[in-house]
Order: sequence, then C-alpha cells, then structure tokens
Amino acid sequence: MRTPRTIITCLSEESREERDKAIVKNEKTGILVMKEAIEKIRVEALRELSEAKDERHVEDVRIRYLGKKGRLTAVLKNLKELSPEERPLVGQLSNELKKELELRLSDALRRFLQKSRRDKLSEERIDVTLPGRCLSLGSKHPISQVTERIVEIFSALGFSVAEGPEIELDYYNFEALNIPKHHPARDMHDTFYITDEVVLRTHTSPVQVRVMEKHSPPVRIICPGKVYRRDSDISHTPMFHQVEGLLVDEGISFGDLKGVLTVFIHQMFSPDTAVRFRPSFFPFTEPSAEVDIQCVMCRGNGCRVCSNTGWLEILGSGMVNPAVFRMVGYDTERVTGFAFGMGIERIAMLKYGIDDIRLFYENDARFLHQF
Ligand code: PHE
Repeated sequence: MRTPRTIITCLSEESREERDKAIVKNEKTGILVMKEAIEKIRVEALRELSEAKDERHVEDVRIRYLGKKGRLTAVLKNLKELSPEERPLVGQLSNELKKELELRLSDALRRFLQKSRRDKLSEERIDVTLPGRCLSLGSKHPISQVTERIVEIFSALGFSVAEGPEIELDYYNFEALNIPKHHPARDMHDTFYITDEVVLRTHTSPVQVRVMEKHSPPVRIICPGKVYRRDSDISHTPMFHQVEGLLVDEGISFGDLKGVLTVFIHQMFSPDTAVRFRPSFFPFTEPSAEVDIQCVMCRGNGCRVCSNTGWLEILGSGMVNPAVFRMVGYDTERVTGFAFGMGIERIAMLKYGIDDIRLFYENDARFLHQF
C-alpha cells in the first residue's frame, strides 16, 4: 500500500488531512490510481511549463492539460468509474490542480509578455544621432512660371489682367465672337458641350467680350486661363492654357499690333529672334495674322521641331472685326483695336525644348524640378 502524498498546496492543513484520510479509507478502489494519475499530470505539466520558451509554448501546455481534450479533462471524464463517495474526492483534487495550473500558466504568460515587450523596446531604440529626413521642396510649375512671365511683360506695356468663367455660354464663346453656327469649331468633336447653350470655353476670347460689355474704350487687357478642346496627342491635351490680349482705342493700327507682339517675343525669347506675320483667318479679327518666330531649336536652319521650315507658329492675332464691336455696342467709326491669343504650353515647350505636352500634367517631380 502506498501512502497517499499531499498534492495540493493551496489547501489548508486540516482539509488536506481530511481528504487524505478519505483517500486512504477508499484505497481498495481505483482512487489511488486516479490520485497518482493526477499527481503525474501535475509534475509533467509543471516541468513542461518550466521548459516553455515563449507564449506559444505556454499556450500549448494549457491546451495539452486543461483544454477540451487535455489530460486533466480526461481524468474528470473518468470520474463516473468511481463510487459516489470517491467522486467528490477526486473531483476536488483535479479542481485544485486545475486552479494551480491556471495560476502558473498565467504567471508564465505574463512573464513572457513582459519580456517580449522589453525586447521590442530595446530593439526599437531610436538613434537620435541619425540625420533627419529632408522634406523635398516643391517648385513652381513651368506653366505657372511662363504665365507669370507673359503677364509681367504685358503689364509693363500697360495691359491689366482680366479673368472669366471656364464654363461659358455658347453666346460668349462663339456667337458674340462672330463664329457662326456652322463653323467647324462648334462641332461636337471639337467642343465639350454641357448643354446646347453651355460649353467649356475653347479659348479665352470670350473674356474680351465680357470686358467690352462692361467697359467703354480704351481697353487694354490680357486674359490668361484654362481652355478645353476635345483633342489629345503629343502636342494636344483636352485642357490647356491660353493668354489672350485685347487693345481697343482710337487710332489703333496693325502697326501697333506688330510692335506690341514683336516686343513681347523679343522679351519672351531673345531680342534677336526673327518674327514674321503671316496672313490668316479668324472670324473675330479682320485682317488676321498668324505670328511665327524663327525656330528656337535650329535657329532657322530647319529641324524636326519646325518641320524643316525654320519657323514656328506661336500665336494668332488680328484687328478686331467690327462685327464684334457692334455686338458690344462700340462705335466702329471711332475705335479700332487688335487682339491676339497664344497657347501657354506651346510657348513653354519652345522656351524649354520640351517635346511632349503631356509631361506638364504627369506631375513627375524629376521633370518639374528642372524649371
Ligand atoms: N482665340 C484664338 C484661338 O484660340 C486665338 C486668337 C485670339 C486669334 C485673338 C486672333 C485673335 O485660336
């Protein structure tokens, strides 16, 4: 006969003795076997726990002993093999072991958690001697830079800046500029229509009309802004920028137009840039001229950019058509004027030697930082 050993530490002395007595009394039954099994479980569980290396091992121990299919749980399932007097004794033993194991498991778990937190903190130590990360500085977009330069040149010549809506009435965009209903520019293929009467402006010329409706001559304005056309390839984007100019006063001639635009071109490019005025047509100007400059790439010798002509077209211009003046109620006997318009992207491309208009809108910092 084996002497029952004391197993559970959390019992008071008296209750432990009582229980042991009861166990001894029942020694002929299977109770000693059960008691030994529980003790064995205890020793092994504690050994495994002491060998655990991390939280996962602790959790494994918990599952192996206290889990649904755990070893202690299995013992409890066997209680029904015992006599009614024996059951509470063994039940108590296993419950005590369960409590003890739970306590030890949570202790171990806490220790591992503290350790991993400490490890993490020391791993993540910040090296305050490392240089900081620089915020990269932005730069002004080349289109903004060129617009500002154009505005600067014309401001010095006495022009002021006027602005108008990008969503424009058909009336201001076409009708008041003497662009008749059947004109190809009014085709759905070229213009973004919002309704029959409302469009995204295709040029900044409608601003001329809006200004003339409100102010009597003299007028001397430039109108920079976004314009929209249904076009997209290496030299066209559906949105681009224009600067339009208008000068109206008594006695304004084509000579004034030539003079002002030549001064502009010499300041924008270089004072020795050759300029030529080529007859052209616009419904809102008469006579009209397209303005070419000597190719900035090949200096007029002929290259791919100027299609071997030595010249680059940079703007449209002309004397304001009296039909436009009549629409705004100006006295066509008293005043004359000239107007011009240019694409800012095109000027920027020529000035900086950029060969694809889409580069302006890709927001690639490597491109933008070059200007
Ligand atoms: N508005 C014309 C265009 O967009 C340019 C232009 C303006 C031509 C003024 C002549 C006079 O093409």
